[in-house]
Amino acid sequence: MNADVFLIGGGLTPFGEHWDKNIRTLMDEAMSSAIYAASVTALDIDIIVVANMLGQATNYQSHLGALASSLLPHKPPALRVEAACASGSIAIHTACALLESNKAKTALVIGVEKMTDSDADTIAHALMGAADEEHDQSCSLTFPGIFGLIAQRYMYEYGLTRDELSLISTTHHRHALDNPFAQFRMSVSPEDVSNSSMVADPLRLLDCSPISDGAAACILSTESPKRNSRIRIAASQIANDALSITQRPVLTSFPATKDAMERALKEAAISREEIECIELHDCFSIAALINLEDMGFADPGRAVALYQQQSLPVNSSGGLKACGHPVSATGIKQIIDTAKYLKAENHQWGLAQNFGGAGATCGIHILERTS
Ligand code: COA
Repeated sequence: MNADVFLIGGGLTPFGEHWDKNIRTLMDEAMSSAIYAASVTALDIDIIVVANMLGQATNYQSHLGALASSLLPHKPPALRVEAACASGSIAIHTACALLESNKAKTALVIGVEKMTDSDADTIAHALMGAADEEHDQSCSLTFPGIFGLIAQRYMYEYGLTRDELSLISTTHHRHALDNPFAQFRMSVSPEDVSNSSMVADPLRLLDCSPISDGAAACILSTESPKRNSRIRIAASQIANDALSITQRPVLTSFPATKDAMERALKEAAISREEIECIELHDCFSIAALINLEDMGFADPGRAVALYQQQSLPVNSSGGLKACGHPVSATGIKQIIDTAKYLKAENHQWGLAQNFGGAGATCGIHILERTS
Protein backbone atom coordinates (compact mmCIF):
# COMPACT_ATOMS: atom_id res chain seq x y z
CA MET A 1 0.00 0.00 0.00
CA ASN A 2 1.26 3.50 -0.79
CA ALA A 3 -0.42 4.94 2.32
CA ASP A 4 -1.85 3.64 5.58
CA VAL A 5 -5.56 3.03 4.95
CA PHE A 6 -7.69 2.22 7.99
CA LEU A 7 -11.06 0.52 8.17
CA ILE A 8 -12.74 2.83 10.66
CA GLY A 9 -16.31 1.50 10.62
CA GLY A 10 -18.72 -0.86 8.97
CA GLY A 11 -22.48 -1.35 8.79
CA LEU A 12 -24.70 -4.11 7.45
CA THR A 13 -28.34 -4.75 6.86
CA PRO A 14 -29.35 -8.28 7.72
CA PHE A 15 -29.03 -10.43 4.57
CA GLY A 16 -32.18 -12.25 3.47
CA GLU A 17 -35.56 -11.40 1.97
CA HIS A 18 -36.53 -7.76 2.40
CA TRP A 19 -39.94 -7.38 0.79
CA ASP A 20 -40.46 -3.98 2.42
CA LYS A 21 -37.16 -2.42 1.31
CA ASN A 22 -35.74 -1.26 -2.01
CA ILE A 23 -32.18 -0.54 -3.12
CA ARG A 24 -32.37 3.01 -1.75
CA THR A 25 -33.55 2.00 1.73
CA LEU A 26 -31.04 -0.88 1.97
CA MET A 27 -28.23 1.51 1.05
CA ASP A 28 -29.43 4.15 3.47
CA GLU A 29 -29.55 1.65 6.34
CA ALA A 30 -26.04 0.28 5.76
CA MET A 31 -24.49 3.70 5.10
CA SER A 32 -26.00 5.25 8.23
CA SER A 33 -24.86 2.39 10.37
CA ALA A 34 -21.28 2.52 8.93
CA ILE A 35 -21.06 6.29 9.52
CA TYR A 36 -22.29 5.80 13.09
CA ALA A 37 -19.83 2.95 13.74
CA ALA A 38 -16.92 5.00 12.39
CA SER A 39 -17.72 7.94 14.71
CA VAL A 40 -17.55 10.36 11.78
CA THR A 41 -20.26 12.55 10.31
CA ALA A 42 -21.68 12.24 6.81
CA LEU A 43 -19.83 15.45 5.94
CA ASP A 44 -16.48 13.69 6.51
CA ILE A 45 -17.11 11.43 3.49
CA ASP A 46 -15.05 12.70 0.53
CA ILE A 47 -16.11 10.06 -1.98
CA ILE A 48 -18.45 7.08 -2.33
CA VAL A 49 -17.71 3.89 -4.26
CA VAL A 50 -20.79 1.74 -4.93
CA ALA A 51 -20.65 -1.96 -5.85
CA ASN A 52 -23.66 -3.35 -7.69
CA MET A 53 -24.18 -5.98 -10.36
CA LEU A 54 -27.89 -6.52 -10.94
CA GLY A 55 -29.62 -3.18 -10.32
CA GLN A 56 -30.14 -2.43 -13.99
CA ALA A 57 -31.16 -5.98 -14.97
CA THR A 58 -33.58 -6.83 -12.18
CA ASN A 59 -34.53 -3.59 -10.39
CA TYR A 60 -34.48 -1.17 -13.37
CA GLN A 61 -32.15 1.04 -11.36
CA SER A 62 -28.70 2.01 -12.55
CA HIS A 63 -26.73 5.20 -11.78
CA LEU A 64 -26.22 3.99 -8.24
CA GLY A 65 -23.33 6.38 -7.58
CA ALA A 66 -25.73 9.30 -7.87
CA LEU A 67 -28.32 7.46 -5.79
CA ALA A 68 -25.81 6.88 -2.96
CA SER A 69 -24.56 10.46 -3.13
CA SER A 70 -28.10 11.81 -2.84
CA LEU A 71 -28.44 10.03 0.51
CA LEU A 72 -25.82 12.31 2.10
CA PRO A 73 -26.46 16.01 2.77
CA HIS A 74 -23.40 17.34 0.85
CA LYS A 75 -23.82 15.01 -2.18
CA PRO A 76 -20.16 13.89 -2.40
CA PRO A 77 -18.70 12.57 -5.65
CA ALA A 78 -19.60 8.93 -6.22
CA LEU A 79 -19.04 6.17 -8.74
CA ARG A 80 -20.20 2.59 -9.27
CA VAL A 81 -18.05 -0.44 -10.06
CA GLU A 82 -19.12 -3.89 -11.25
CA ALA A 83 -17.24 -7.18 -11.30
CA ALA A 84 -20.07 -9.69 -10.73
CA CYS A 85 -19.83 -11.34 -7.29
CA ALA A 86 -16.40 -9.71 -6.82
CA SER A 87 -17.87 -6.21 -7.11
CA GLY A 88 -17.49 -5.61 -3.35
CA SER A 89 -13.77 -6.31 -3.20
CA ILE A 90 -13.18 -4.39 -6.43
CA ALA A 91 -14.99 -1.40 -4.87
CA ILE A 92 -12.72 -1.59 -1.83
CA HIS A 93 -9.68 -1.85 -4.09
CA THR A 94 -10.89 1.22 -6.02
CA ALA A 95 -11.43 3.19 -2.81
CA CYS A 96 -7.95 2.20 -1.54
CA ALA A 97 -6.43 3.49 -4.80
CA LEU A 98 -8.26 6.82 -4.41
CA LEU A 99 -7.09 7.11 -0.81
CA GLU A 100 -3.53 6.04 -1.58
CA SER A 101 -3.29 8.68 -4.30
CA ASN A 102 -4.65 11.31 -1.88
CA LYS A 103 -7.68 12.05 -4.10
CA ALA A 104 -9.71 11.61 -0.90
CA LYS A 105 -9.02 11.17 2.79
CA THR A 106 -12.17 9.30 3.74
CA ALA A 107 -14.21 7.03 1.45
CA LEU A 108 -17.48 5.23 1.97
CA VAL A 109 -17.72 1.91 0.12
CA ILE A 110 -21.15 0.34 -0.22
CA GLY A 111 -22.30 -2.86 -1.89
CA VAL A 112 -25.98 -3.49 -2.45
CA GLU A 113 -28.18 -6.02 -4.18
CA LYS A 114 -31.94 -6.61 -4.24
CA MET A 115 -32.35 -10.07 -5.77
CA THR A 116 -35.53 -11.58 -4.33
CA ASP A 117 -37.95 -9.36 -6.26
CA SER A 118 -37.27 -11.43 -9.38
CA ASP A 119 -38.42 -14.97 -10.13
CA ALA A 120 -35.84 -17.77 -10.10
CA ASP A 121 -35.39 -17.89 -13.90
CA THR A 122 -34.88 -14.15 -14.22
CA ILE A 123 -32.28 -14.05 -11.47
CA ALA A 124 -30.43 -17.14 -12.76
CA HIS A 125 -30.31 -15.56 -16.22
CA ALA A 126 -29.12 -12.21 -14.83
CA LEU A 127 -26.41 -13.91 -12.75
CA MET A 128 -25.16 -15.62 -15.91
CA GLY A 129 -24.06 -12.17 -17.06
CA ALA A 130 -21.03 -12.99 -14.88
CA ALA A 131 -20.08 -15.80 -17.27
CA ASP A 132 -19.23 -15.74 -20.98
CA GLU A 133 -22.23 -14.93 -23.17
CA GLU A 134 -20.77 -16.70 -26.20
CA HIS A 135 -19.27 -19.82 -24.63
CA ASP A 136 -21.16 -20.44 -21.34
CA GLN A 137 -24.61 -18.84 -21.62
CA SER A 138 -25.26 -20.23 -25.10
CA CYS A 139 -25.24 -23.82 -23.78
CA SER A 140 -27.79 -22.94 -21.07
CA LEU A 141 -25.39 -23.28 -18.16
CA THR A 142 -26.32 -21.66 -14.85
CA PHE A 143 -23.92 -20.94 -11.99
CA PRO A 144 -25.04 -24.01 -10.02
CA GLY A 145 -24.43 -25.91 -13.29
CA ILE A 146 -20.93 -24.50 -13.74
CA PHE A 147 -19.95 -25.30 -10.16
CA GLY A 148 -21.61 -28.72 -10.49
CA LEU A 149 -19.20 -29.49 -13.34
CA ILE A 150 -16.30 -28.18 -11.28
CA ALA A 151 -17.36 -30.36 -8.31
CA GLN A 152 -17.67 -33.44 -10.52
CA ARG A 153 -14.18 -32.95 -11.87
CA TYR A 154 -12.75 -32.31 -8.37
CA MET A 155 -14.37 -35.48 -6.99
CA TYR A 156 -13.07 -37.47 -9.97
CA GLU A 157 -9.51 -36.16 -9.61
CA TYR A 158 -9.15 -36.25 -5.83
CA GLY A 159 -11.68 -38.82 -4.67
CA LEU A 160 -13.61 -36.35 -2.47
CA THR A 161 -16.77 -38.08 -1.25
CA ARG A 162 -20.28 -36.67 -1.02
CA ASP A 163 -20.19 -36.88 2.78
CA GLU A 164 -16.86 -35.04 2.94
CA LEU A 165 -18.22 -32.24 0.76
CA SER A 166 -21.20 -31.91 3.10
CA LEU A 167 -18.88 -30.90 5.96
CA ILE A 168 -18.36 -27.49 4.37
CA SER A 169 -21.96 -26.29 4.59
CA THR A 170 -22.44 -27.96 7.98
CA THR A 171 -19.50 -25.95 9.34
CA HIS A 172 -20.56 -22.64 7.81
CA HIS A 173 -24.16 -23.05 9.01
CA ARG A 174 -22.91 -23.78 12.54
CA HIS A 175 -20.84 -20.59 12.48
CA ALA A 176 -23.89 -18.50 11.51
CA LEU A 177 -26.00 -19.61 14.46
CA ASP A 178 -25.01 -16.56 16.51
CA ASN A 179 -24.84 -14.10 13.63
CA PRO A 180 -27.90 -11.81 13.73
CA PHE A 181 -27.18 -10.62 10.16
CA ALA A 182 -27.23 -14.13 8.64
CA GLN A 183 -30.03 -15.25 6.31
CA PHE A 184 -30.06 -18.85 7.63
CA ARG A 185 -29.43 -19.39 11.32
CA MET A 186 -30.14 -23.10 11.52
CA SER A 187 -27.74 -25.98 11.97
CA VAL A 188 -27.61 -28.60 9.26
CA SER A 189 -25.99 -32.00 9.65
CA PRO A 190 -23.82 -33.56 6.90
CA GLU A 191 -26.76 -35.94 6.29
CA ASP A 192 -29.10 -32.96 5.81
CA VAL A 193 -26.74 -31.58 3.18
CA SER A 194 -26.23 -34.92 1.41
CA ASN A 195 -30.00 -35.53 1.34
CA SER A 196 -31.16 -32.05 0.36
CA SER A 197 -32.76 -31.66 -3.06
CA MET A 198 -30.53 -31.97 -6.11
CA VAL A 199 -29.75 -28.70 -7.87
CA ALA A 200 -26.88 -29.51 -10.29
CA ASP A 201 -25.29 -32.91 -9.77
CA PRO A 202 -23.48 -33.35 -7.39
CA LEU A 203 -24.47 -30.02 -5.82
CA ARG A 204 -27.59 -30.04 -3.68
CA LEU A 205 -29.63 -27.21 -2.22
CA LEU A 206 -27.49 -27.03 0.93
CA ASP A 207 -24.28 -26.79 -1.12
CA CYS A 208 -25.49 -23.50 -2.63
CA SER A 209 -25.46 -19.92 -1.43
CA PRO A 210 -28.98 -18.50 -1.61
CA ILE A 211 -30.59 -15.60 -3.45
CA SER A 212 -30.49 -12.62 -1.08
CA ASP A 213 -31.18 -8.94 -0.55
CA GLY A 214 -28.82 -6.83 1.48
CA ALA A 215 -26.27 -4.07 1.75
CA ALA A 216 -22.87 -3.69 3.41
CA ALA A 217 -20.96 -0.45 3.85
CA CYS A 218 -17.58 0.42 5.26
CA ILE A 219 -15.62 3.58 5.81
CA LEU A 220 -11.96 3.64 4.80
CA SER A 221 -9.74 6.53 5.78
CA THR A 222 -6.13 7.64 5.76
CA GLU A 223 -6.92 9.61 8.91
CA SER A 224 -5.89 7.31 11.72
CA PRO A 225 -8.64 6.71 14.28
CA LYS A 226 -7.75 7.60 17.85
CA ARG A 227 -8.53 4.23 19.34
CA ASN A 228 -6.45 1.52 20.95
CA SER A 229 -7.29 -1.11 18.41
CA ARG A 230 -7.12 -0.13 14.76
CA ILE A 231 -7.72 -2.10 11.60
CA ARG A 232 -5.33 -1.37 8.75
CA ILE A 233 -5.74 -2.59 5.18
CA ALA A 234 -2.35 -4.23 4.81
CA ALA A 235 -2.92 -5.48 1.26
CA SER A 236 -5.47 -4.94 -1.50
CA GLN A 237 -4.92 -7.03 -4.61
CA ILE A 238 -7.07 -8.05 -7.56
CA ALA A 239 -6.42 -10.53 -10.36
CA ASN A 240 -8.22 -11.93 -13.40
CA ASP A 241 -8.50 -15.04 -15.55
CA ALA A 242 -10.35 -16.19 -18.68
CA LEU A 243 -14.05 -15.36 -18.36
CA SER A 244 -15.29 -18.74 -19.61
CA ILE A 245 -14.52 -22.04 -17.92
CA THR A 246 -14.21 -23.47 -21.45
CA GLN A 247 -11.05 -21.40 -21.88
CA ARG A 248 -9.30 -22.77 -18.78
CA PRO A 249 -6.72 -25.58 -18.78
CA VAL A 250 -8.06 -26.98 -15.48
CA LEU A 251 -11.41 -26.77 -13.63
CA THR A 252 -10.20 -27.57 -10.13
CA SER A 253 -8.17 -24.42 -9.48
CA PHE A 254 -8.69 -20.70 -10.07
CA PRO A 255 -5.37 -19.06 -11.05
CA ALA A 256 -6.69 -15.55 -10.29
CA THR A 257 -6.92 -16.49 -6.60
CA LYS A 258 -3.33 -17.80 -6.64
CA ASP A 259 -2.13 -14.63 -8.33
CA ALA A 260 -3.97 -12.23 -6.00
CA MET A 261 -2.85 -14.22 -2.94
CA GLU A 262 0.80 -14.22 -3.90
CA ARG A 263 0.76 -10.47 -4.44
CA ALA A 264 -1.29 -9.79 -1.28
CA LEU A 265 1.17 -11.67 0.94
CA LYS A 266 4.02 -9.76 -0.65
CA GLU A 267 2.25 -6.44 -0.16
CA ALA A 268 1.46 -7.17 3.50
CA ALA A 269 5.00 -8.55 3.95
CA ILE A 270 3.78 -11.56 5.90
CA SER A 271 3.79 -15.31 5.38
CA ARG A 272 0.63 -17.37 4.80
CA GLU A 273 1.14 -19.05 8.19
CA GLU A 274 0.58 -15.73 9.99
CA ILE A 275 -3.03 -15.48 8.76
CA GLU A 276 -5.29 -16.30 11.72
CA CYS A 277 -8.76 -16.06 10.20
CA ILE A 278 -10.27 -16.19 6.71
CA GLU A 279 -13.55 -15.13 5.17
CA LEU A 280 -13.67 -16.83 1.78
CA HIS A 281 -16.01 -17.04 -1.18
CA ASP A 282 -18.11 -20.19 -0.66
CA CYS A 283 -20.76 -19.46 -3.30
CA PHE A 284 -20.92 -23.25 -3.59
CA SER A 285 -19.38 -25.70 -1.10
CA ILE A 286 -16.78 -26.93 -3.60
CA ALA A 287 -15.49 -23.37 -4.05
CA ALA A 288 -14.43 -23.18 -0.38
CA LEU A 289 -12.10 -26.17 -0.87
CA ILE A 290 -10.62 -24.87 -4.12
CA ASN A 291 -10.08 -21.41 -2.63
CA LEU A 292 -8.19 -22.78 0.38
CA GLU A 293 -5.96 -24.79 -1.95
CA ASP A 294 -5.39 -21.89 -4.35
CA MET A 295 -4.41 -19.69 -1.39
CA GLY A 296 -1.90 -22.33 -0.35
CA PHE A 297 -3.51 -23.35 2.95
CA ALA A 298 -3.77 -26.96 1.72
CA ASP A 299 -2.31 -29.08 -1.06
CA PRO A 300 -4.55 -29.75 -4.08
CA GLY A 301 -7.34 -32.15 -3.13
CA ARG A 302 -6.58 -31.89 0.62
CA ALA A 303 -8.51 -28.85 1.87
CA VAL A 304 -11.30 -30.93 3.34
CA ALA A 305 -8.83 -31.94 6.09
CA LEU A 306 -8.92 -28.33 7.36
CA TYR A 307 -12.65 -28.77 7.94
CA GLN A 308 -12.25 -32.26 9.42
CA GLN A 309 -9.59 -31.04 11.88
CA GLN A 310 -11.19 -27.60 12.38
CA SER A 311 -7.63 -26.28 12.30
CA LEU A 312 -8.25 -22.86 10.73
CA PRO A 313 -11.11 -20.41 11.41
CA VAL A 314 -12.78 -20.26 7.98
CA ASN A 315 -15.98 -18.21 7.49
CA SER A 316 -16.61 -17.60 11.18
CA SER A 317 -19.53 -15.40 10.09
CA GLY A 318 -21.27 -18.28 8.30
CA GLY A 319 -19.92 -17.34 4.87
CA LEU A 320 -22.03 -16.92 1.76
CA LYS A 321 -23.76 -20.23 2.36
CA ALA A 322 -25.43 -19.31 5.64
CA CYS A 323 -25.21 -15.50 5.71
CA GLY A 324 -26.61 -15.14 2.20
CA HIS A 325 -25.06 -13.72 -0.94
CA PRO A 326 -26.46 -10.40 -2.18
CA VAL A 327 -23.67 -10.55 -4.72
CA SER A 328 -22.10 -7.08 -4.62
CA ALA A 329 -22.49 -6.68 -0.85
CA THR A 330 -20.57 -9.88 -0.10
CA GLY A 331 -16.99 -8.62 -0.59
CA ILE A 332 -17.62 -5.67 1.73
CA LYS A 333 -19.38 -7.77 4.34
CA GLN A 334 -16.38 -10.13 4.35
CA ILE A 335 -14.06 -7.22 5.27
CA ILE A 336 -16.39 -6.09 8.06
CA ASP A 337 -16.62 -9.62 9.46
CA THR A 338 -12.85 -10.16 9.25
CA ALA A 339 -12.29 -6.96 11.25
CA LYS A 340 -14.92 -8.01 13.77
CA TYR A 341 -13.24 -11.37 14.25
CA LEU A 342 -9.73 -9.89 14.55
CA LYS A 343 -10.96 -7.64 17.36
CA ALA A 344 -13.00 -10.31 19.12
CA GLU A 345 -10.20 -12.87 19.08
CA ASN A 346 -7.29 -10.45 19.55
CA HIS A 347 -5.73 -11.73 16.36
CA GLN A 348 -3.35 -9.65 14.25
CA TRP A 349 -3.84 -10.84 10.65
CA GLY A 350 -7.03 -11.74 8.78
CA LEU A 351 -7.85 -12.29 5.12
CA ALA A 352 -10.92 -11.83 2.92
CA GLN A 353 -11.14 -13.58 -0.46
CA ASN A 354 -13.94 -12.70 -2.87
CA PHE A 355 -14.38 -13.82 -6.46
CA GLY A 356 -16.64 -13.15 -9.40
CA GLY A 357 -18.00 -15.62 -11.96
CA ALA A 358 -16.14 -18.91 -11.83
CA GLY A 359 -13.07 -17.19 -10.42
CA ALA A 360 -12.55 -14.88 -13.42
CA THR A 361 -12.01 -11.94 -11.04
CA CYS A 362 -10.57 -12.30 -7.57
CA GLY A 363 -10.03 -9.69 -4.86
CA ILE A 364 -7.97 -10.42 -1.76
CA HIS A 365 -7.61 -8.09 1.20
CA ILE A 366 -5.34 -8.66 4.19
CA LEU A 367 -6.30 -6.80 7.36
CA GLU A 368 -4.05 -6.07 10.33
CA ARG A 369 -5.22 -5.26 13.82
CA THR A 370 -2.63 -2.79 15.08
CA SER A 371 -2.30 -1.52 18.61
N1 COA B 1 -29.72 -22.83 1.33
C1 COA B 1 -30.68 -23.22 2.22
N2 COA B 1 -32.00 -23.08 1.99
C2 COA B 1 -32.37 -22.51 0.85
C3 COA B 1 -31.44 -22.09 -0.11
C4 COA B 1 -30.08 -22.27 0.17
N3 COA B 1 -29.15 -21.90 -0.71
N4 COA B 1 -32.10 -21.55 -1.17
C5 COA B 1 -33.40 -21.63 -0.86
N5 COA B 1 -33.56 -22.21 0.33
C6 COA B 1 -34.82 -22.55 0.99
C7 COA B 1 -35.80 -21.41 1.00
O1 COA B 1 -35.70 -20.65 2.17
C8 COA B 1 -37.11 -22.16 0.91
O2 COA B 1 -37.43 -22.66 2.21
P1 COA B 1 -38.96 -22.70 2.71
O3 COA B 1 -39.66 -23.64 1.75
O4 COA B 1 -38.84 -23.23 4.10
O5 COA B 1 -39.45 -21.30 2.61
C9 COA B 1 -36.80 -23.36 0.04
O6 COA B 1 -35.38 -23.58 0.20
C10 COA B 1 -37.13 -23.17 -1.41
O7 COA B 1 -36.66 -21.91 -1.80
P2 COA B 1 -36.62 -21.43 -3.30
O8 COA B 1 -36.32 -19.97 -3.31
O9 COA B 1 -37.86 -21.91 -4.02
O10 COA B 1 -35.37 -22.21 -3.86
P3 COA B 1 -34.99 -22.40 -5.36
O11 COA B 1 -35.02 -23.87 -5.63
O12 COA B 1 -35.74 -21.48 -6.26
O13 COA B 1 -33.48 -21.89 -5.37
C11 COA B 1 -31.18 -22.37 -5.52
C12 COA B 1 -32.47 -22.62 -4.76
C13 COA B 1 -30.06 -23.10 -4.82
C14 COA B 1 -31.29 -22.85 -6.97
C15 COA B 1 -30.90 -20.82 -5.52
O14 COA B 1 -30.77 -20.40 -4.20
C16 COA B 1 -29.64 -20.48 -6.30
O15 COA B 1 -29.68 -20.36 -7.52
N6 COA B 1 -28.50 -20.28 -5.61
C17 COA B 1 -27.27 -19.95 -6.28
C18 COA B 1 -27.16 -18.46 -6.47
C19 COA B 1 -25.98 -18.12 -7.34
O16 COA B 1 -25.74 -18.73 -8.37
N7 COA B 1 -25.24 -17.08 -6.95
C20 COA B 1 -24.08 -16.66 -7.67
C21 COA B 1 -22.94 -17.50 -7.25
S1 COA B 1 -21.56 -17.44 -8.34
